[in-house]
Amino acid sequence: MKSVILVGSARNESNTLKLAQRLQKEGEFELINLLEYKIGHYDYEHQYTEDDFIPLMKKIIEKYDTIVFATPVYWYAMSGMTKVFFDRITDLITIEKDLGRQLRGKNMAVITTSNGGNLGDDFWHPFKHSASYLGMNFLGGEHTINGMDNENAVANFLDFFKVK
Ligand SMILES: Cc1cc2nc3c(=O)[nH]c(=O)nc-3n(C[C@H](O)[C@H](O)[C@H](O)COP(=O)(O)O)c2cc1C
Repeated sequence: MKSVILVGSARNESNTLKLAQRLQKEGEFELINLLEYKIGHYDYEHQYTEDDFIPLMKKIIEKYDTIVFATPVYWYAMSGMTKVFFDRITDLITIEKDLGRQLRGKNMAVITTSNGGNLGDDFWHPFKHSASYLGMNFLGGEHTINGMDNENAVANFLDFFKVK
C-alpha cells in the first residue's frame, strides 16, 4: 500500500513536518509539504491561475492508495492550509469528476500536533464524513501533543495501517 502524508502547517520547519518525518522513518510514507505548492481558495467560477491543485491531485491519485493528513491544530480545528485543500476537493466532484471518482476505495487517515489535549472526537468529524462522501475508507485519527511522549499516539497511528 503506497501512502502519502500531506503536511498542512503554516510554516516550514514545523512541528507537524517533524512529526511527518518521524512517521516517514517508521513506515512506508512519502511526504508532500503543501506549503511548497500554490493552492488557491475554492472558487465557484473555477478561475484558478497557475494553481497546483489539480496537477498535484492527479499525481496523488495516480500514485497512492492512502492519503494521510498531517495537520497542526489551529483554533480547535484543522489548519487553514488543510481546509483550503479540502475545499478544493469540491473541484473533483464538479469540474474533474473522473478524477474524483478515482478516490473511491482509497484510504484516509489523520494525525495532528497541538499544545493541549483538549480535543474530542468531534475533531475527526469533517475528515470522517468527507471520506465517506468521497467513497474513501477512514482509517482513523490520532492526536499528538507537543513536548509530551508521543510514542503511544505514533504507535496507535501506525496500527491503522496494519489492518491492511
Ligand atoms: C493559529 C494557531 C492556533 C492554535 N490553536 C491551538 C488550539 O486550538 N489548541 C491547541 O492545543 N494548540 C493550538 N495551537 C498550537 C499548535 O497547535 C501547536 O503548536 C502545533 O504543534 C503547531 O504546529 P506547526 O508547527 O506545524 O504549526 C495553535 C497555534 C497557532 C499558530
